[in-house]
Amino acid sequence: MGILVRNDAISIVCRKLGISKEQFRQNYEIIGNSMIIREDDEFGTDERSLGRAMLSSFKLWGIYKYTGIHGSRRIPSVKMISGIHTDVVQSEDGILYMLDPKKIMFSKGNKKERHLLTQMVSEKETILDMFAGIGYFSIPLSFKVRKVYSCDVNPDSFHYLMMNKRLNTANNLVPMLGDSSMLPMEEFADRIVMGHFDSHRYLNSALKYLKKKGSIHLHQLVRRGDELIMVKKYRSYGFVTNAKIRKVKSYSPSHDHVVLDLEVIKH
Ligand SMILES: C[S@@+](CC[C@H](N)C(=O)[O-])C[C@H]1O[C@@H](n2cnc3c(N)ncnc32)[C@H](O)[C@@H]1O
Repeated sequence: MGILVRNDAISIVCRKLGISKEQFRQNYEIIGNSMIIREDDEFGTDERSLGRAMLSSFKLWGIYKYTGIHGSRRIPSVKMISGIHTDVVQSEDGILYMLDPKKIMFSKGNKKERHLLTQMVSEKETILDMFAGIGYFSIPLSFKVRKVYSCDVNPDSFHYLMMNKRLNTANNLVPMLGDSSMLPMEEFADRIVMGHFDSHRYLNSALKYLKKKGSIHLHQLVRRGDELIMVKKYRSYGFVTNAKIRKVKSYSPSHDHVVLDLEVIKH
């Protein structure tokens, strides 16, 4: 769909809903051929007609409403408003991500971080992605480094991780289904990606898999203003030689999603 046509559609929909384009961009996300609405408001009886209007305006296959995310596996609660339910394929920087919008969340807000990470690595590295999901970090990284081990505990995520490995011919990616605290790793990693807000609980496991000297990218939620306290906490760990913090995106009115880049030497 052309950008002009899409912009026209956004203007019309915003006028109908009485919302700004900024609100639209925050709460209405197009993933492949589908739209995910993150609006808290109930649309009531208008919901189906709104869905149908969205389908035709944006030439999409399915409109879904997101109502929350649950548990450590980050499983979304999603209901279909209109259209047909299918897998979708989202294209980003030439990489294809296939997923089922009812089972898997895709966060476009992490795009900059995905790109940044690929700029930090070097080609001889072995990377472990401990919470790989459908391969959001693993697939782009696999084109830049020697080998990527990608683990996820959720069989649905693992299914799409396998599909995305194949879809993108990521031959040096090794998918692993299971708990990332108990991995049968064949080699130590130069770098570990921990893309889960509970990842600090898995830091001891990460140390088991890391080479004597390596890097860890640990995702966290932080209360705005507490960034320095968090950095100091990680710098105080004996195995951390340097810690830096980077904002990925705003998460809520009070919290940001951040990444801590930890340089590590094991004693
Ligand atoms: C928020 S998603 C992150 C996916 C991806 N890294 C990203 O940035 O979008 C967290 C993923 O961690 C997985 N997960 C949760 N606990 C796990 C564990 N103990 N071992 C492996 N994967 C786990 C979930 O199934 C989910 O796919």
